[in-house]
Amino acid sequence: MLVAAALGYLLGSVPFGLLLTRFTGAGDLRAIGSGNIGATNVLRTGRKGLAAATLLLDLAKGAAAVWLGRLLATDPAAVADPAAVAGAAAVIGHCFPLWLRFRGGKGVATLMGVSLGLAWGIGGVYAAVWLGMLALTRISSLGGMSAAVAAPVAAQLLGHPGYVPVLAALAALVLWLHRANIVRLLNGTEPRVGSKPKAGP
Ligand code: G3P
Repeated sequence: MLVAAALGYLLGSVPFGLLLTRFTGAGDLRAIGSGNIGATNVLRTGRKGLAAATLLLDLAKGAAAVWLGRLLATDPAAVADPAAVAGAAAVIGHCFPLWLRFRGGKGVATLMGVSLGLAWGIGGVYAAVWLGMLALTRISSLGGMSAAVAAPVAAQLLGHPGYVPVLAALAALVLWLHRANIVRLLNGTEPRVGSKPKAGP
């Protein structure tokens, strides 16, 4: 269990958005837009390909952590599912990476990968809610938060009640990390995809 958590955390803590933008000369992501290290903020550099790569890699590390956790699941009587533990650790690693003094991203793409890894149905609902809200509002944070909240609901409705507590806890974490976005949403100042935000968390 501890190995699954440690591997998940290490995998999740790889800051792909920051690395891709730094090594391609797209600038310091921390000084651009919201300062976040996720795909939405990479998009604000104007590099659509880099943003897509960040989204896919952040998603892939979440799914890979779950897969690794499943490989490590040898004890059927274990108190917790190592796949869920590794997935949760990956989201925590993305949000609080050791390498960035625990100041990471907001977890949306990595949680999508974890949801897909846990069950295709949960991941499918997550992706549909995220893309649907994004298409409707063009506000990335609203899409991400809606998808995170939908994940435990989908787990319950699709016959995976064992994943509800961990997904609910991760949704709460995602909401907490979006608190500045929530204030901007309430103020009507949250930028839409394609517009430039004011600097801030
Ligand atoms: O996935 C992060 C997104 O939900 C919000 O990003 O940069 O607009 O705070 P940002």
